[in-house]
Amino acid sequence: MISAQTCGHAPGRAEWLGNHTDYNDGLVIGIGLEVGATVTARSTGDRQLVLRALDLGESLALGLHALRPVETGSWANYAIGVAAGFIARGAQAHGLELEISSTVPMGAGLSSSAALECATARVLQQAWSTDFDDMELARIGQEAEHKFAGVRCGLLDQVTSLFAKRDHAVFFDCRSLVVERVPVPPEARFVIVQSGVKHALSDGAYNDRRTECEEAARILGVEKLRDATSQMLDEGENSGRLQGAPLRRARHVVGENARVAAAAEALRAGDLAAVGCLMNESHESSRTLFENSCEELDFLSSEARSISGCLGARLTGGGFGGAVLALVDRGREDDFVKSISKRVSRTWGRVPQTLVTGAGGA
Ligand code: GLA
Repeated sequence: MISAQTCGHAPGRAEWLGNHTDYNDGLVIGIGLEVGATVTARSTGDRQLVLRALDLGESLALGLHALRPVETGSWANYAIGVAAGFIARGAQAHGLELEISSTVPMGAGLSSSAALECATARVLQQAWSTDFDDMELARIGQEAEHKFAGVRCGLLDQVTSLFAKRDHAVFFDCRSLVVERVPVPPEARFVIVQSGVKHALSDGAYNDRRTECEEAARILGVEKLRDATSQMLDEGENSGRLQGAPLRRARHVVGENARVAAAAEALRAGDLAAVGCLMNESHESSRTLFENSCEELDFLSSEARSISGCLGARLTGGGFGGAVLALVDRGREDDFVKSISKRVSRTWGRVPQTLVTGAGGA
């Protein structure tokens, strides 16, 4: 039996501000991108889940009763994990063939994985007639990362992708789960410049950072670093209880939450220059305190900032590679791309991949 086809789409995301704050119950601002993943579902009448990645020319089939992760790092784990999350929540699953295509660059810090999870969730919702709300779909995507890809991520990527709205930023409080879509002033353009350093969060550094944050929270006697204050950190440091990596991670998270709150205010007031400054400060904090930057990201962000028309630049996403996000005045983006490309190719001997975008989404 081949029944009508359904289709789900979800954009990639860029983390505008709020680096590694999400799993600390903190604050983040993301934007949806104009690139995304699309998943088309066709009922097959059996009990199999067939996945076809059109761009990669790969496919595989699994029994619905025995969904499990395939090899580490495979794109398929994100879709399988989401299907498993639906079934675990009682979805009346029947056999489907899912055709997947995506325009989100992989390993570039733009969350190609969340786009795939969210597009899969959107299509399964229709194909299996469930009515989970978007926050639950985001949780299903996050669970797929945790259980099927081994990355203990927060909710930033999935929430931004599912709540993305054209010309709006997604301001998300990861504790209260309140989402506010804040209009992005029309003069803002974003340029994403790839470092070319492949970032794979499944290699362990991401989870290590999360563990260090949890350790800092435990030492401070708070549930999450969201509850910590600068004063608590000073006391912990002075008494010798909180030192080294956990102290630096905690300082970053406390400062970053304050920067996100300030940026949301600045955005509401249309003050892009202030947001740009906060982006620069965020990068410095990631570089020196959270230590998830790398030479290439540092080079890109400092070069970007020195180009006229650029209001601020920072690493975006997990770090350890991936991309830098630059906030650029509308009308200056083409010159910005030329300039950063020239500087990078002079130093690295290659032209970086760039993506010029507004805030995308439905
Ligand atoms: C990755 C994770 C997110 C978030 C960011 C860092 O994108 O998937 O949950 O932690 O890194 O802010």
